[in-house]
Amino acid sequence: MKRPFIIDCDTGTDDTIAILAALGCEEMEIVGITSVNGNVAEKHTSQNNLDLMEYLGRDIPVAHGAWLPLSGSRDSNTDPKIHGKTGLGNTELPHAVKLQFDPRIAATFIYEEAKKRKGEMELLVTGPMTNIAIALAEHDDLKQYIKHIYFMGGSTVGGNVNSTAEFNIWADPEALHAELMSGIPTTMVGLNVSNRAVMTDIQEQRIRSYGSREGILAADLLLYMIARTKFGDYAARMHDPLALAAAIYPECMEYESYYGDAECTGTYTRGHTAIDIFRKSQNDPNVTVATEINVPLFSEWLCERIRIAGEKGEELRK
Ligand code: BDR
Ligand code: CA
Repeated sequence: MKRPFIIDCDTGTDDTIAILAALGCEEMEIVGITSVNGNVAEKHTSQNNLDLMEYLGRDIPVAHGAWLPLSGSRDSNTDPKIHGKTGLGNTELPHAVKLQFDPRIAATFIYEEAKKRKGEMELLVTGPMTNIAIALAEHDDLKQYIKHIYFMGGSTVGGNVNSTAEFNIWADPEALHAELMSGIPTTMVGLNVSNRAVMTDIQEQRIRSYGSREGILAADLLLYMIARTKFGDYAARMHDPLALAAAIYPECMEYESYYGDAECTGTYTRGHTAIDIFRKSQNDPNVTVATEINVPLFSEWLCERIRIAGEKGEELRK
C-alpha cells in the first residue's frame, strides 16, 4: 500500500528537486501539490507546480494556496537572487496549456483529501506553514485526519535570514506556531542538518547523465544553486529534499524529540524556532527534530530517486 502524501511547497529551486525526487518514490502516492507564498509570490509557485506537472506528463492535482502569511506582511519573499525572479533559477518551463488548477484552495484541498484518507494522509511541507495553519483554523477536526507532517524549516541553532531565523519560519512564524500546537505528529528538518546536505558538480554531472527530463531539470537547478552560492564552496544545500528523506528514508538521519515553538514576537528573534534542546521546559515533546545526517547516504539516495523518477517519467511520456 502506498502512503498518501500532499506536498505543500513554495517552488523554489530545491522544492523542485524535492518534487522530482518524490516522483521517484514508489512508496508515495502524491495526492496533490499545494502552493504557498514563500520563495517567490504564490502566483509563481503555483504556476511552477502546474508547469512542472505538465512538462513531466504527470496528472497530479495542483492547487493554489495562500498568497500572504498569516500576519499579512507583504515583505515575506526571498531575495530574487536566491531562487531567480520566478523561482526556478534560470530555467523556464513551457507554460502549461492542458492542465488546469484544482478548483479548491490549498486549505480546502488538504482538508477534503485528508478526510477521505481517514487519518492516513501525510504532508511534506517545504515552504512556510501558512496553508496548513489556515486549514487547521478552518476545520477543527482536520488534525485527526493527518498522520504526520514532515517539514523543512527552522534550526536548533542559528538561521539563514538573520542570526536566529530560518526563511520558512521567518516568513510565517504564526503558522508554524499553530501547527506545533495542533498535536499532529511532526518531524522538523532544520538548517542544523540541511546546511550539511550538500551536493556538488559531481552529483550534478551524475544526475545530468540520466538523460531524462527529470535528471536534466534537476541538474540545471543544481548548477544554478552551485553557481549562486555565497560560500565559495561549489556546493548547493538540499534543504527541501532532506525533508522528503525524513519521510521516506529516515535512516539517513538521527532524531530527538523535543518541545518546540516558533517565536512570533521579538525585536531580533521573530521567526526563531525555540527548540528546547536542554529539556528545561515542563511541556511534553511535540516535535521530532532531525539532529544528525549521514551525508553520503542521503546524497546517494537522492540521486537514485531522481534516476527512478526519470525512468518512470520517460516511460509515461512515450
Ligand atoms: C528554505 O527556504 C527556501 O529558500 C528553500 O526552498 C528552503 O525551503 C531554506 O531555508
Ligand atoms: Ca522551499
